[in-house]
Amino acid sequence: MERSLTLELVRVTEAAALASGRWMGCGKKNEADQAATEAMRTVFDTIPMRGTVVIGEGEMDEAPMLYIGERLGLGYLPEVDVAVDPLEGTNIVAKGLWNAISVVAVADRGCLLHAPDMYMEKIAVGPKAVGHIDINASVADNLDAVAKALGRDVGDLVAVILDRPRHSQLIEEVRAAGARIKLIPDGDVAAAINTAFPDTGVDIVFGAGGAPEGVLAAVGLKCLGGEIQGRLLPQNEAETERCKRMGISDPGKVLRMDDLVKGDDAIFAATGVTDGELLKGVRYRGTMATTQSLVMRARTGTVRFVDGKHRLEKKPNFVLE
Ligand code: FBP
Repeated sequence: MERSLTLELVRVTEAAALASGRWMGCGKKNEADQAATEAMRTVFDTIPMRGTVVIGEGEMDEAPMLYIGERLGLGYLPEVDVAVDPLEGTNIVAKGLWNAISVVAVADRGCLLHAPDMYMEKIAVGPKAVGHIDINASVADNLDAVAKALGRDVGDLVAVILDRPRHSQLIEEVRAAGARIKLIPDGDVAAAINTAFPDTGVDIVFGAGGAPEGVLAAVGLKCLGGEIQGRLLPQNEAETERCKRMGISDPGKVLRMDDLVKGDDAIFAATGVTDGELLKGVRYRGTMATTQSLVMRARTGTVRFVDGKHRLEKKPNFVLE
């Protein structure tokens, strides 16, 4: 892949963040999501690549843009798979809470898992704990192994878990093992990425979230040298069938880094929409807006934080085509 794509992709997530950040705290998650999607789609049309959406806003008949199979980019090489979540954390934005991001991931064609839109059980850690997690082991054993790898006590670990009734037993097990928990309302991509940045105070992510989000997190963690393991959780016969149609013959299989994102090259870009442990959200000051983004490439391991200052009078609808 061309290395110049990295900065192009920041333009994509910046545009989506600028457009959706305006809806922060307005109680309108659909409007925020639509604004992000439209802005992201517009900028993709300016990027020199031949992309195919493998993770997007839905199937072609349910999403007007950024649907699975949609072709993106100016049509020149490279030929790439594209995973997008124009607004990861729609409710977060509606309520003005933490850690909403706009996020994209790109890899060579055929390298991203075509994850069906269903739940995935996940466990994710940063680089120091790589090789010390096992989705088949107990919560206590995982916490113990991660604590040892980080040279800390289990009581000093912080686990992030989506605050959902389905996680009540998991939450009990983490607390019984002695670790502390940050319960989050939404946004497990940001949580997984945070495990790779010790200053965020996040050590491990557990629990079931969206499978598409699992692939996005895997690309980010591949760039950062971290690890995520996942297992699809089809809830009924129709979801099991969907897995098969998408080429996943054994939905119960443990999905490791190379199942989620093959090969050694991939690019991940995210821009903060609301403030988070890692990225600041969008600030608007009259005709000026600021953004903070993270962009990384797996092959080189380069991690860049990009502060953007945007002259809104020059960007009608937050996008300059
Ligand atoms: P949206 O941005 O689509 O609202 O999803 C946010 C999210 O919290 C993800 O971070 C997470 O993986 C998934 O939804 C969890 O799904 P559910 O809300 O059904 O528990």
